Amino acid sequence: MKSFLKPLVFIGVPLLFVATALYTFDKETAKRNIKRAAEQYSYMLQLIGDTDKLPRSVDDSGNVNTVEPYDWTSGFFPGSLWYLYEYTKDEKWLNAAKTFTEILEGQQFNNTTHDLGFMIYCSFGNGYKLTGNEQYKQILINAAKTLASRFNPKIGCIKSWDGHDGVWQYPVIIDNMMNLELLFWATKETGDSSFYNIAVTHANTTMKNHFRQDYSTWHVLSYDTTTGKVEKRNTHQGYSDESCWARGQAWGLYGFTMCYRETGESRYLKQAESMAEYISKHLPEDMIPFWDYDAADYPKDASAAAIMASAFYELAKLSRKVKYKTYADKIMNALSQPEYLASPGTNAGFILKHSTGNKPANSEIDVPIIYADYYFIEANLRKLQFESK
Ligand code: GLY
Repeated sequence: MKSFLKPLVFIGVPLLFVATALYTFDKETAKRNIKRAAEQYSYMLQLIGDTDKLPRSVDDSGNVNTVEPYDWTSGFFPGSLWYLYEYTKDEKWLNAAKTFTEILEGQQFNNTTHDLGFMIYCSFGNGYKLTGNEQYKQILINAAKTLASRFNPKIGCIKSWDGHDGVWQYPVIIDNMMNLELLFWATKETGDSSFYNIAVTHANTTMKNHFRQDYSTWHVLSYDTTTGKVEKRNTHQGYSDESCWARGQAWGLYGFTMCYRETGESRYLKQAESMAEYISKHLPEDMIPFWDYDAADYPKDASAAAIMASAFYELAKLSRKVKYKTYADKIMNALSQPEYLASPGTNAGFILKHSTGNKPANSEIDVPIIYADYYFIEANLRKLQFESK
């Protein structure tokens, strides 16, 4: 080598390593992320102390904001604790997961919300998978029956929200796709196909009505209870009725990927891939969406990114297409940087920063939110499973 090139090699090689460290997401980073999650949740447990409420986000002073078990987000903290137990096998996490899961027991009969899937499946569902506890199984079955009671066969969907009389007769939101996992589980456990049939009918109705031609989603559809037809297509948490709310698109991607896993029906795979196509065309270069794809401006929504990353690992596995793993790795790389990943002992014990709950209501803007953490931990675990195959 010519002597004047040697200094360039000395500069170039370390630079290459720095660039690689910044732009790849590997197994070691996933393991470090889970370690950070454990550090943060140890700190969170100290902060919340002995309580029968569940962490959701932070208040205006940056302190942990906890909610009652009937809040739609109540299952995510216990669910995250189960994931930490699954990974570490440390009894400390088992005990914490049990404690915070069992606070939700009364919700199994809560028939006022479609969010029972989130609440009960993330908590008791993960707990049952890891412990085989028969009481948890019964609670899950009861919750599936409660959720199924919100299904209207004329409309072909589970009703999402109560209490919007005069605005929506029968609101169904794209988020509701996530709650179907509890129903698929219930059919496998009980042999009662009615849960499966409701889940598939809901997914088919959603596929028919909830999508624009470019496979972006409306957030809220309302159905006419007399005719069973769509009466309105609106938003609630997005920028406008005709925009694409980022977290809604992420829920749909995850939901249809899960439906394909549970049914093997190729139409669900096609739907998830078409949604992924929309996302890949609209994600900004840094891979973290703003809160709405049609309002590409502050604030970001790290929760949408974490949900998508987890969904993309599953989509990559099921479709055997490497591009979805690349999307997931790129998103996870971005979320693993200090911009998004909290330093130990900060962020009120939450793992990720910069999520957005409800921008139009000026609620939970650019803050840590528990469901971002849950799907972030899940995505790290999925990455490790994916790489071990
Ligand atoms: N499912 C409610 C939300 O994503 O904000």
